[in-house]
Amino acid sequence: MENFSIKKLDKAFDIEIDSIASDKSISHRCAMFSLFSNKTSHIKNYLTAEDTLNTLSIVEQLGAIIKRDGSSVEITPTDKLTEPNDVLDCGNSGTAMRLFCGLLASVDGAFTLSGDKYLRARPMKRVADPLRSIGANIDGADNGNKAPLFIRGAKELTPFTYHSPVDSAQVKSAMILAALRANGISKYKENELTRDHTERMLKGMGATLTNDEDGFINIHPLTDHLKPLNITVPTDPSSGFFFAVAAAITPNSRVLIKNVTLNPTRIEAYQVLKRMGAEVNFVQKENIYEPIGDIEIKHKELNAVEVNENISWLIDELPALSIAMSLAKGKSLVKNAKELRVKESDRISAVVDNLKLCGVNYTEYEDGYEITGGNINKAKINSSGDHRIAMSFAVAGLVCDMDIEDTQCIDTSFPNFKELLDSLYI
Ligand code: S3P
Repeated sequence: MENFSIKKLDKAFDIEIDSIASDKSISHRCAMFSLFSNKTSHIKNYLTAEDTLNTLSIVEQLGAIIKRDGSSVEITPTDKLTEPNDVLDCGNSGTAMRLFCGLLASVDGAFTLSGDKYLRARPMKRVADPLRSIGANIDGADNGNKAPLFIRGAKELTPFTYHSPVDSAQVKSAMILAALRANGISKYKENELTRDHTERMLKGMGATLTNDEDGFINIHPLTDHLKPLNITVPTDPSSGFFFAVAAAITPNSRVLIKNVTLNPTRIEAYQVLKRMGAEVNFVQKENIYEPIGDIEIKHKELNAVEVNENISWLIDELPALSIAMSLAKGKSLVKNAKELRVKESDRISAVVDNLKLCGVNYTEYEDGYEITGGNINKAKINSSGDHRIAMSFAVAGLVCDMDIEDTQCIDTSFPNFKELLDSLYI
């Protein structure tokens, strides 16, 4: 098991970073969506972390020819996807597993999707059930609700009208990918808009997805191949957020996170940090499928905040926000965040159990927590094998020493995290 120790940072920093990990959600989608074209997709700045490299390997197992030079990737799909002769290993990634379920649901062949012990414990019913209801053959462990999942491509998928009980971009994306190969127009609705990279990218590639006034996305089946992707993947705002919190909690500090997606469904945590009192400025520079630009964060005294809406827009950043909340003045509240319990770990337990070790007062709820801000003390915390828990508490180590156990998981999304954190001390 890998561990590391963080020393208290006794100085201010002022840095501009352009080497934060590339966006994980967009990278997964680049690899997968290239399979809907018959021409070579060119992807620059692909995230070369464990999760997204696994996805690239799966795409290769499905027959695509991949040329990779560092973070530049060219993907040339074959005419027909190949049946793999081995398990498709999604590693730690729920996005990979759930989106591949939709993508493979009607592909001729048999496919086994599996992953690490954390992924095998996560719920797959939310995607398997609606896919089964339109004709997909999906079975798996735990009565078909957990990985390993076994898919036998269905001859035909029925077009659907589905109002999802769970607001999840992964479920939405899986259903959209399945709908592209259904035999009629399908309709998908979510209660709150979740991250919309799938819709933006597929539309950019030529798919027909329209929104009707009843809140449904209408997905037209493909009549032809889509255009290939030609994209530079922006920086991941979720990875950048660790450094946003670092600047917000370190007196007189500033960070500029460059070339990050400014998609509103991804930057809500920065808005919350702003509401807490930090200075946060967004500058849009371009638009490639979505707005891209820089985010500047400057330290100011932080005040408590309540977070209970647009939860899916900041769900991945809640562990890091809990560190800012622990150092803010007053009691902060997170509610309606039950989804946190089924992420890479049970993030409600992981956050409060570790805050307890750090001497922070809190109340745990089924769907969130209340944190009394003030101080964080040195502790030995365990990541529960969850990258975002490890990185959040590493950032807390900037205000007090911190020992983090089980840090290998950081490589799933942000391999150069420790190197960048270390650069704050120079
Ligand atoms: C993701 C969607 C979210 C998010 C995850 C990435 C995606 O999960 O938490 O890290 O790329 O679609 P849910 O769909 O479970 O909300």
